[in-house]
Amino acid sequence: MQEKKTFYITTPIYYPSGNMHIGHTYTTVAADTMTRFKKLTGYETYFLTGTDEHGQKIEKKAAEAGVTPIQYVDKIVAETKELWKLMDIENDDFIRTTEERHVKVVQKIFKQFYDQGDIYKAEYEGMYCTPCESFWTATQLVDKDGVKVCPDCGRPCQPMKEESYFFRMSKYQDWMIEYIEQHPDFIQPAARANEMINNFLKPGLQDLCVSRTSVKWGIPVDFDPKHTVYVWIDALSNYISALGYGTDHDELFKKFWPADVHLVGKEIVRFHTIYWPIMLHALGLPLPKQVFGHGWLLFGTDKMSKSKGNIVYPGPIVARYGVDALRYYLMREMPFGADGNYTNESFLTRVNADLANDLGNLVSRTVAMIEKYFDGVLPAWDEAGYVEAEDAALREHCAQLPQLVEAQMDKLQFSQALTEIWKVIGECNKYIDLTQPWILGKDPEKKARLADVLLNLAECVRFVAVLVGPFMPKTPARIFEQLGLTDDALKTWESLDSFGKLPAGLQVKKGDALFPRIDIKKDLEILSGGSAETAPAPKKAEKKPEPKKAEPKEEAPASEITIDDFAKIQLRTAKVIACEKVQKSDKLLRFTLDLGKGETRNVFSGIAKAYTEPEKLVGKTLILLSNLKPRKMMGELSEGMLLSALDDTTGTLRLLTVDQADEVAPGSEVG
Ligand code: ME8
Repeated sequence: MQEKKTFYITTPIYYPSGNMHIGHTYTTVAADTMTRFKKLTGYETYFLTGTDEHGQKIEKKAAEAGVTPIQYVDKIVAETKELWKLMDIENDDFIRTTEERHVKVVQKIFKQFYDQGDIYKAEYEGMYCTPCESFWTATQLVDKDGVKVCPDCGRPCQPMKEESYFFRMSKYQDWMIEYIEQHPDFIQPAARANEMINNFLKPGLQDLCVSRTSVKWGIPVDFDPKHTVYVWIDALSNYISALGYGTDHDELFKKFWPADVHLVGKEIVRFHTIYWPIMLHALGLPLPKQVFGHGWLLFGTDKMSKSKGNIVYPGPIVARYGVDALRYYLMREMPFGADGNYTNESFLTRVNADLANDLGNLVSRTVAMIEKYFDGVLPAWDEAGYVEAEDAALREHCAQLPQLVEAQMDKLQFSQALTEIWKVIGECNKYIDLTQPWILGKDPEKKARLADVLLNLAECVRFVAVLVGPFMPKTPARIFEQLGLTDDALKTWESLDSFGKLPAGLQVKKGDALFPRIDIKKDLEILSGGSAETAPAPKKAEKKPEPKKAEPKEEAPASEITIDDFAKIQLRTAKVIACEKVQKSDKLLRFTLDLGKGETRNVFSGIAKAYTEPEKLVGKTLILLSNLKPRKMMGELSEGMLLSALDDTTGTLRLLTVDQADEVAPGSEVG
């Protein structure tokens, strides 16, 4: 029998210095979604997560709590494992750096590095950030009001001198540059590879401090026990210690190494794409195939973080809206690689628009119409095989969907993969409006046509149910139940190889709404009244009745606006008279705009990174949201907002311009 292809994916091992929040959940859900997708498509998968338990910060936290470090982390680890269960995370292993199996491997690796001359002992002098447990060179520190602060967290650093072991990173610098340059897929998104080469490798790689004498809570260097292994050799080795590397039980290592992808937040890309590959190379091991540095979930403009205390926890959100709604939101809201803002409003809006309205309505309308017109029994496909043009388009699109989704998943573009699925959902909803089953239902002669329409819809629903599974593990079973589908062979990836497999005779059954509509205004108040933690779980009786089915006019979904809403927006053409980069800001450009009839406007736009030669914009005609309330920026008024388009895969941002601008006077109305 042919062996299955393997797929090994990891998350960072998180610091159990406090409870895991929605940021850690984001990475873990992404890894779980990817694993489930690979499983669905026939891979033998291995998914590792865990906790990084040593170091000064944890030592300090435990002391503050009046417990030993291990007591402190044991409690958080137990809660973390509970959280991953709640989030439907199916990890194969959970590695803790305090486990014997890890400690032994780290000591062995450290000794090997020392014996082969990669590690040497010296005196360390540098600046140290205690909260981040990071040493920085003077040039890496950032100036904040005359004080040199940590480039990561912005807090002051202290000078520190100590005997330490160092890893000779400098020796591998040229090899590392060449490797990155020759393996364009190794670091993703690709822009992060340039950042590594230009900011860290080319300026000269410093040797890395890999032991401490002042931190007791760590793995002892067995041949020099006053030292403990410091941070990165300890933490990064988890990816191989968990597989039994360097032990007699290394079957998993042989099977799954090198990892297919390490998922990490962008702030630790450097450690995973420079230090970790160098360590592996020094051990004579192959490198992971890819490191993907994803963006941050922001809260306002700040990264959510345990040390800043601006945290959203998943528990209360899941209790109220269900795990699939949160998983969907996390994977859909921002492109993997870019930053995004968590707000209760964006969460509730997405759940209403995409889940309650688009998906929920499609399923409930399809099932309700089969109940109404065929007594709940799925009819047979039209034997004549007659297909209308609108059917052909929908069927073809749906049949291609698995490949469209896979192409995005291969790039870890979760949001794009979901967009592909939702395009088919949208097309189905349009197909209902187009074919008007409620009219066909009135004419007995149109029964065969009506059967085809409903079958096409039900089959699309089956495709969608299979494909959303990796993102929303509980949802497929709920949809299959409504379709009355019990045959597991029709719930697989393989069963999506052709359209039209849903068998006649299934007994459909309308169930509860998949995602009850949310009264956004009311829930926003509940969620912001204190915190989501105080929000009661929704009562069953509170569920709103579903919108009526099978009538031509639907109520406007939350994401739609009326023409009156649009009329409030004034868009006008604006000709660029001057454009320059704003000093002291790396984001803003200042525009002076001509709006015709002598009117000029001053507008700031946060697009400096996309336009490095702003003067080249002079003379262009752009589109301005001209009745936006002016606001003060950089001490001046900004009077409007320029429209631009963002490619959410590549992150490319471009201003909207007017075609044949010389034929339209500045200030012309757009609409
Ligand atoms: O860095 N948005 O642990 P950590 C998105 N132990 N992702 C976030 C996030 C946010 N606001 N906050 C956290 C460590 N994350 C080390 C790692 S690996 C060998 C050692 C996620 O507890 C993201 O994946 O600070 C980030 O890289 C990780 O949690 C940091 O977790």
